[in-house]
Amino acid sequence: MIRTDKNVFILETNQTAYAFRTVETGVLQHLYYGCRLPRAEDYDSAPVILNQPGNSLVDNDGRCREDLLQEAGTVGWGDLRAPLVDAMLPDGGRSCDFRFSHFERPEHALPEGLPASEGGETLKVVLKEHTHALYLELYYTVFEDTDVIARWSRLINDEAETVWVTRLMSQQLDLPAGEYDLITFRGAWAREMDMVRQNLAGELRWSSNTGGSSNRCNPFAMVCRRGCGEEAGEAWALNLVYSGNHLGIAQVNAYGSVRLTQGMGELGWQLMPGEKLDSPQAVMTYSDRGFSGISQHMHPFIKKHIVRGAWRDRERPVLVNSWEGFYFKVSHRKVVQLAKNARNIGAELLVLDDGWFKGRSDDSRALGDWKADPKKLPDGLAVLAREVNEQGVRFGLWVEPEMVSEQSELFAAHPDWILGHKNQAIGRNQYVLDLTRPEVCSYVCDSMTAILSGADIAYIKWDMNRIMSDVFSPALPPERQGEASHRYILGLYGILDKLTKAFPDVLFESCASGGNRFDLGMLCYMPQVWASDNTDAACRSHIQWGYSYGYPQSVLGCHVSDSPNHQTLRRSPLRSRFNVAAMGLLGYELNPGELSSDKIQEIREQVEFYKAHRRLLQFGQFHRCPSAAGECFTMVTSPNGEEAAGVHFVWENQPNPQSVPLYCRGLEGEKTYHLTSRSTPPRITDFGSLANYMSPIRIRSGSLVEKAADRFVKLPQDALELKASGRAFCQRGFYPIQPFGGTGFNGATRLMRDFDSRLYLWTEDAE
Ligand code: DGJ
Repeated sequence: MIRTDKNVFILETNQTAYAFRTVETGVLQHLYYGCRLPRAEDYDSAPVILNQPGNSLVDNDGRCREDLLQEAGTVGWGDLRAPLVDAMLPDGGRSCDFRFSHFERPEHALPEGLPASEGGETLKVVLKEHTHALYLELYYTVFEDTDVIARWSRLINDEAETVWVTRLMSQQLDLPAGEYDLITFRGAWAREMDMVRQNLAGELRWSSNTGGSSNRCNPFAMVCRRGCGEEAGEAWALNLVYSGNHLGIAQVNAYGSVRLTQGMGELGWQLMPGEKLDSPQAVMTYSDRGFSGISQHMHPFIKKHIVRGAWRDRERPVLVNSWEGFYFKVSHRKVVQLAKNARNIGAELLVLDDGWFKGRSDDSRALGDWKADPKKLPDGLAVLAREVNEQGVRFGLWVEPEMVSEQSELFAAHPDWILGHKNQAIGRNQYVLDLTRPEVCSYVCDSMTAILSGADIAYIKWDMNRIMSDVFSPALPPERQGEASHRYILGLYGILDKLTKAFPDVLFESCASGGNRFDLGMLCYMPQVWASDNTDAACRSHIQWGYSYGYPQSVLGCHVSDSPNHQTLRRSPLRSRFNVAAMGLLGYELNPGELSSDKIQEIREQVEFYKAHRRLLQFGQFHRCPSAAGECFTMVTSPNGEEAAGVHFVWENQPNPQSVPLYCRGLEGEKTYHLTSRSTPPRITDFGSLANYMSPIRIRSGSLVEKAADRFVKLPQDALELKASGRAFCQRGFYPIQPFGGTGFNGATRLMRDFDSRLYLWTEDAE
């Protein structure tokens, strides 16, 4: 709900409130962002602006803005912190003084050409620069149901001359003096979303200048009170509905108060007379229930207001992807056989990854030439898709439309279509196409339209495998080069908008070497993202844990791959690889045809289990549960509290470990639940020479005797069954079966290897 009370604006969600007011001068003073307060007057208790002693500045009205919490900081006039807007006025000066003009309550108000969250109630506040015809519009959208508030800014130049904009941020959140920490999610290729917590002092930044939202630093960040933890304490979270360069600044000023600003980063934008510039939309939330509260606001918000279209609430198919099975060595015969194998394990979609188009024998060539390779796929995509469908699975395809290889027909025809000069730092042997140019966008759109309308394609994996080095467009004059990076993203969004509207039933999965463009902007077009090229279960449980702070599991592509893993060469149990992937959108990135029959059977059972609990696993509320060091325990619970699933993952197996209970989250206290565990039978080969301790005959590792024993000797399998109230599972916890640790093995011990895990299922007990 949005309330305006005299000069105070109050934005309320179910549990939170955000308030600001206009002071006499017309400057917007931020008042509060926290839990809802009972009375409207409660919000208006911030101190009137004081004249700061010493050498601080005062404005024309004798007010000091240095420590005033504000909604729209600018350069000059005594506010020394990072501004929301930084613009060079026609005379070359940068000092701006934006003051309240009026407010409106528009029905629809979205930034032009940019994706934004859907729904909500909007407030528009218009500010005017005191001495110039320059207007700053601030848009606030309140999502009551999910406790999220979105913000974006529009700058309008009504002057007779050009204004140079170097910064137009999406949001600014000023917090009162206190002790805070900044939490960001950093990484690189194959190790995305590592949570970094730093004491907030001086100035800290979270940003990307790679041209994309990047795996180096995700736009999602949190600020919390120093003592805040998973379940208690105050935290604020920020994110951006944008896929390009971003900049987040957290500053503590000389008086201890905090300014957080976030937006698309530095620009060099020429705003001509009569023109306007829109920032991307940013989103924020607050919780006094620690990081779990933040996730419980952000997850439903993304599911409801960011993800859209036919696939928003639809269960996602279990897929088999050809990449780690075949890499570039694809052929019609192999793909059809893979489809058969996919069907055999119960998968519903076969995705033909890289390597299918003309001349693509490795990663040094052919990007841009979007025609099926006549040698590998002589009958073309349409026939291939039909034959895949005949095997009983849908057909999906990988593309990387924003790129061009030097060795390609496209580059030969249009060498000037690349972003940057030809002599530039290169990534994966490819150039980025210049999407600031309409004719290049048309080529991308047309070539993708031809693919999608030429064959029965149910799914597209849209990849983007390099970062930008020389962000320069030959099509723009020198004075507009500072616009190239944002114009690229606008070009990309234009393409995605057209394609997703033209093919509304196609399931799009965004990918950028894994999670190099994992952001709310891409999620507005594509309901899921390939979270990381790292499919190792141990790494993935850490990466997925990181994503879970800001993003729901319903947007995370998670695959079971072969062992040893292709990124880490680590060996891990198949059940564990499944358990980790099952806490997201399940796929298999291996060739089932190369597995033994017992592994195929195990996978069949996994897929059957996943499908039976798919709504819960994909769309249930996700919880990070308390867990011991070296372990992690996550759960998903259904909205009606009838069922839940959880995975307990252990990085390093220990002999004779402490008995530590696992504490559940999200179960309903008064309900009674029946807990069962999901495991697989231990194998003789798991024990190596230790098998001789029990065996009447000598068994050597790798011998035929071991193979025969492995096949015929059935060992007892651990199975936990418990019944208790939800409150008991959450407060008192439950003890997993004692792990095997050197002595004693029977059905009452749990065989755990390194990187092993167990999946648990809770169902409501009706009695
Ligand atoms: C990077 C992706 O993240 C991988 O999954 C795969 O699609 C390759 N690109 C193909 O080149």
